[in-house]
Amino acid sequence: MDRIDRNAPIGVFDSGVGGLTVAREIIRQMPDERLVYFGDTARLPYGSKSRATVIRYSQQIIRFLKTRKVKAIVVACNTASAYALEAVERDSDIPVIGVIRAGARTAVHATQNGKIGIIGTVGTISSGIYTEVMKQLKPDIEVTGKACPLLVPLVEEGLLHDSVTDEIASRYLSELKGRYIDTLVLGCTHYPLPRSTIRRLMGEDVTLVNPAYETAMELKQLLAGSSLTCDPGLPEDGKYQFFVSDLAEKFTSFATSILPEEVKETRQINIEEF
Ligand code: DGL
Repeated sequence: MDRIDRNAPIGVFDSGVGGLTVAREIIRQMPDERLVYFGDTARLPYGSKSRATVIRYSQQIIRFLKTRKVKAIVVACNTASAYALEAVERDSDIPVIGVIRAGARTAVHATQNGKIGIIGTVGTISSGIYTEVMKQLKPDIEVTGKACPLLVPLVEEGLLHDSVTDEIASRYLSELKGRYIDTLVLGCTHYPLPRSTIRRLMGEDVTLVNPAYETAMELKQLLAGSSLTCDPGLPEDGKYQFFVSDLAEKFTSFATSILPEEVKETRQINIEEF
């Protein structure tokens, strides 16, 4: 891997703003690293698309990120991690990591009673990937998945603390409440944003797992293990770059509300060209 520039940025992508929850953790844990973020706001949601479509979108985004000379890629989207990670890893000459393995591992370690719930998009839940990975780690674990598709557009609309979001989340989560789970994986990168609503509805006794934190830790180890950690004190100029496929201004203000520093600019690109 010595041909990869360790001072190059890390590429991070999602269908929209959800992956910013992962970018935020990367910035917190690795403040020296540079970052290029892409949100596919023109083609969101991914959660209700077919596997073939999500693979095609992910491959296009990776081709775009490579034009920005990234040194590693984080698939900061559970749906793309579930459907496309294997395909994109196979084609890639730089490290690529998803968010599912890290989240599954943390949940298996966190549960006391062996009953874990997962909320995610229709794609992530129907792929069964969380259950598969968790059962590999601990075969007798009981996993209940629940797709919560309407939470993504609500988050994209910024309705994080709103009675509509409360009502919809409450309907989705009521099913999980009867299953005596003690651990709930926020298996969509949009869901940590209405975390306080989910926390209130599930109660204090349920451990909420946000895979973003462990994904950033996994990335940190991966970079260190491949001698790809960047040098400290690189120029601040252009340290974080943001791209979307639509609605750049809306993204800029949302990103500023989530990230530790102000996002000054988001550029719109035509992702279909890649
Ligand atoms: N944030 C994404 C995920 O983690 C996708 C949401 C969507 O586009 O449906 O699954």
